[in-house]
Amino acid sequence: MRRVRTPERKPINIYEGTFDLKAKILECSLKDLDASINICDLTSIINKFNDWKRLMPNVEPFYAIKCNDELPVLETLLHLGSGVDCASLKEIEHVLNIGFKPDKILFANPMKNISHIEYAKANNVTDSTVDNEFEIYKIFQHYPESNAVLRFRSDALKAYRSFGKKFGCDAEEDGVALMLVAKALGVNVNGVSFHVGSGCSDLYAYDRAIDTGSNLYKAGIMMKHKMELVDIGGGFPGHNDEMFCEIAEIVNEALKKYMSDVEAKIIAEPGRYFVSAAYTTICRVYSKRELRDKDGELEKIMYYVNDGIYGTFNAIIFEKIKVDTIHFKDENSKTYSSLIFGPTCDAADILCDNIQLPNLKDGDFIAFPNTGAYTVTRSCGFNGFILPKTSYYIRKDMQLL
Ligand SMILES: Cc1ncc(COP(=O)(O)O)c(C=O)c1O
Repeated sequence: MRRVRTPERKPINIYEGTFDLKAKILECSLKDLDASINICDLTSIINKFNDWKRLMPNVEPFYAIKCNDELPVLETLLHLGSGVDCASLKEIEHVLNIGFKPDKILFANPMKNISHIEYAKANNVTDSTVDNEFEIYKIFQHYPESNAVLRFRSDALKAYRSFGKKFGCDAEEDGVALMLVAKALGVNVNGVSFHVGSGCSDLYAYDRAIDTGSNLYKAGIMMKHKMELVDIGGGFPGHNDEMFCEIAEIVNEALKKYMSDVEAKIIAEPGRYFVSAAYTTICRVYSKRELRDKDGELEKIMYYVNDGIYGTFNAIIFEKIKVDTIHFKDENSKTYSSLIFGPTCDAADILCDNIQLPNLKDGDFIAFPNTGAYTVTRSCGFNGFILPKTSYYIRKDMQLL
């Protein structure tokens, strides 16, 4: 069994009462830092977990660590009892090192390298998703005693990112045939899974997918596969609690409608839901340019900050998201049309344009909330710019770690 080094432990700062972002920023003494900084309030993750349990008590979360794999985040979720969704050998290695037990790990990547399957086998990670005959055959060859979870395609009409083109069999055309292939090879299919799309805003997509999944699940029972799992994937919003409540209602209702005549453990693979709102990224203005009209009137201000689309703000390109800004100037200050550039030499490195900001000076901070998802794991240091480090906080009465 291979093991990597134990991940480095990070200090966690304790606070009482409500989280005072501005005070935390001032504590960070950013003035001398070249990189931006992330402020992570772990309390937010705990609250999200408790909301999940309250609103969808029958759905067990397996957090998708691709979303944010920082140690305090994973340790918090471990303490809360979450499982994890991993996509590769390295991700499995990372969570085993932190203390997740193999039965709390789902290898949720339908296309797997053989070495990754062998690593899962050596570490007793038994459940993995598949969506085609080649991958079922690979399981037969390299880990026949494991369980295959059949992933089918069921895309939401609207999402930041859909997966149907890349992953998931056609449930009606191929689902039963794939289960028969598995049966013939002696590979047990123990469940079905789907992902409606990351950042899903077509809430009834969950109803449609659970309907389809329940039919496939029941077909598996008829074929005498030992069916036990329905995995409803990810796609839950990161910072829209109202929308999450609506999705939870739709999911609960769909499970009642389509799944109440069979026994199944229901799991999900939420990513951004747990971590998005926990993070705020603090950037420093380190340069600016002013555009003036022919009368010399200030028309627009262009700011250059120390993080951009190759770092924390990659989702502006990948997912076409818009960022929110928080500044710490007087609310009544005069504002100007503003553009914020990231630090690299790429002219497309733009965080936002045509937003209203007061006239900021070199050294002022701009904070960007909801930056916990697909940021630390998807950033690169293009052009030699340093990526942010994270300062962690937790409310005193919520201390888990
Ligand atoms: C297989 C799988 N599960 C779960 C997730 C997490 O999705 P989300 O962050 O939308 O909840 C992803 C995201 O890419 C994924 O690919």
